[in-house]
Amino acid sequence: MNITVLHGPNLNLLGVREPEIYGTDTLPAINASIEKFADEFGHTVTIEQHNGEGGLVDAIQRARLTSEGIVINPAGYTHTSVAIRDALLATGVPTVEVHLSVPEAREEFRQISLISDIVIGRISGFGGDGYLLALQGLIRHIEEMQADDSSGS
Ligand code: DQA
Repeated sequence: MNITVLHGPNLNLLGVREPEIYGTDTLPAINASIEKFADEFGHTVTIEQHNGEGGLVDAIQRARLTSEGIVINPAGYTHTSVAIRDALLATGVPTVEVHLSVPEAREEFRQISLISDIVIGRISGFGGDGYLLALQGLIRHIEEMQADDSSGS
């Protein structure tokens, strides 16, 4: 299966951006580990990073045609974007939300996620490894859905 992995604004600066919060792994290093992990299980990933909300919305819409699932870290848009929430609802593709940090343990304005009630799962606080945990859970979820479909139940 193919999974779309989306990184939101400022995640292109991982490695130099607030390393005490987000760690020292760069985005290319995290992406390489995601690709390797997917490949080990016989799956493929389409990985994109967008600083703009519209780019993320477009990528979510494309995923409807290309991917069985989405892993998304909407970054700052987690707390503000009705458009990203609407795009996920419109596509209906099973989605896991990832955060490198634990947003709830930080400032007040990070306490709210506009997508947490519409995703199948949420992983936070494990840095870049969170993407791998998300992929594992998402793939298992999709395989179970496909098995249910084929058994007619
Ligand atoms: C983040 C948490 C957000 O609050 C923040 O705006 C980010 C990164 C995380 O991965 O921990 O940019 O999504």
